[in-house]
Amino acid sequence: MVKVVFIDDQGSRVIEAQQGESMMEAARRDGKSTLIGECGGSCICASCHAYIDAAWLHALPPVSINEAQMLDALDNCRYNSRLTCKLLLGPRLDGIVVRIPRSTRWP
Ligand code: FES
Repeated sequence: MVKVVFIDDQGSRVIEAQQGESMMEAARRDGKSTLIGECGGSCICASCHAYIDAAWLHALPPVSINEAQMLDALDNCRYNSRLTCKLLLGPRLDGIVVRIPRSTRWP
């Protein structure tokens, strides 16, 4: 299991994810997460956008061209923005801290 700490404006929540599933899938499977993830991981909606805690950026895979294009189109893109559907979970990311912006959480 891989633990992911999701933070939004309602507070924080620790989710136990399966190794190999995406961060977005883990958040949605949990059922109480606020992350949208509308396209299911096809990298066409950016509704899984989140901010990765700076201390964890070194552990992430590089941003693909497709992901970079999606992120560039967002008004609230930052240096630590990622699409969580493109981040597969494993031991390197155990305990990662992720902030969900208002724009990609359910009301
Ligand atoms: S879920 Fe649509 S881009 Fe990630």
